[in-house]
Amino acid sequence: MKIMVVGSGGREHAIVKALKKSKKAEEIFVLPGNGGMAEDATIVPIGAKDIPAIAAFAKDNGIDYAVVAPDDPLVLGAVDALNEAGIPCFGPRKNAAIIEGSKAFSKELMKKYGIPTARYATFRKIEEAESYIDSLPEGAVVVKADGLALGKGVIIAANREEAKEAARSMMVDGKFGASGNCVVIEEFLTGPEVSVLSFTDGETVVPMVSSMDHKRALDGDKGLNTGGMGVVAPNPYYTEDIAAECMQKIFLPTVRAMKAEGREFRGCLYFGLMLTPDGPKVIEYNCRFGDPETQAVLPLLSTDLLEIMLACTEGRLKDADVRFENKCSCCVVKASKGYPEKYDTGFEIRLEGEIDGELYIAGGKLENGKLLTAGGRVLGVTAVADTLGEAVEKAYSEAEKVHFENEFFRRDIGARALAALRK
Ligand code: AMP
Ligand code: GLY
Repeated sequence: MKIMVVGSGGREHAIVKALKKSKKAEEIFVLPGNGGMAEDATIVPIGAKDIPAIAAFAKDNGIDYAVVAPDDPLVLGAVDALNEAGIPCFGPRKNAAIIEGSKAFSKELMKKYGIPTARYATFRKIEEAESYIDSLPEGAVVVKADGLALGKGVIIAANREEAKEAARSMMVDGKFGASGNCVVIEEFLTGPEVSVLSFTDGETVVPMVSSMDHKRALDGDKGLNTGGMGVVAPNPYYTEDIAAECMQKIFLPTVRAMKAEGREFRGCLYFGLMLTPDGPKVIEYNCRFGDPETQAVLPLLSTDLLEIMLACTEGRLKDADVRFENKCSCCVVKASKGYPEKYDTGFEIRLEGEIDGELYIAGGKLENGKLLTAGGRVLGVTAVADTLGEAVEKAYSEAEKVHFENEFFRRDIGARALAALRK
């Protein structure tokens, strides 16, 4: 099969590398990809949001199957456009991608179908948002922009004053453009967070190995929120009992709810969960694979990713062979100093020796045969081992083999998970 992957980051590199292992994969294209993927796929300079060009490329090049990885093209309807062009696709159609595209939608869905989540209210008028905030008890409040905001649309306000300021920045000052015209204000929850990516064909849900992202830029969960600075899998807080509870109370009800709403979801549904003292609750849904969760989860998959994806698309996931190794993984991300704010790029990425594990390039460009940095998050190194401790140690020692000027990375990926295991 001729396969096309839409997207450009470390997640897409991990998907490309996993697909490459399939016997059925003959040729892989990545749109736009990045220079660091050149050994694994044919890089095509078409932007992930340029949907007409993506569909035209697929048609003109006889693509048999497409995988749309990022949220933007999914929410914009890339899968619909490709399907109309006759190309089968992994990923939800636009009317299902709304589960990530609109927080007002996903909260309403959870309320209607009794899926556990933080209590909330939705507002389109600032005056109403402000008087609602005034009516809340003193303490932390969470203010969320309804639409996509590059992962930055969530503000944890320490008190009512800060919450009103946050709502104002979104609804009046237009901080996130149209994404902030509507806001969701919700109760502040506490507990360990777990990411569960799942395969679904709209009926069956098969969760992948659980994982723990590290969203803040600096050690000790300090600094700004980022796309994710590292991941360990599985997540030690996510026990078998909790997994069973999540399947019954969250995963199956969500997939059934989407189907009942006429929005059947096929693809990867990502459950961002918080294990609160009152049980697991949904913090957010994503309509796609997580980044960098994918870079830690897919190396543990022991069966054929392409076959599983095709089964999702064709509605026969219940017969698919989805298995994960009984091992642990750790992905350490190296970023450009200054990320997630301002940073310089164009530094050479140098590899010393061979990495025993996976090297995923998230932001690279080829220039005169050299691979240069070209983004905030530059690369991820994933190691797999029998124990989490060994995986973490190995990921760090392997990450020593790849360097660029201006690099920074967290030194404590997995520390919290290891502490939980020791308890
Ligand atoms: P999101 O972009 O929705 O994943 O939110 C970013 C981060 O904000 C999450 O990973 C949580 O750490 C935090 N967060 C979101 N909603 C809540 C909530 N209701 N209570 C506490 N923390 C939250
Ligand atoms: N790592 C979080 C996300 O992909 O949304």
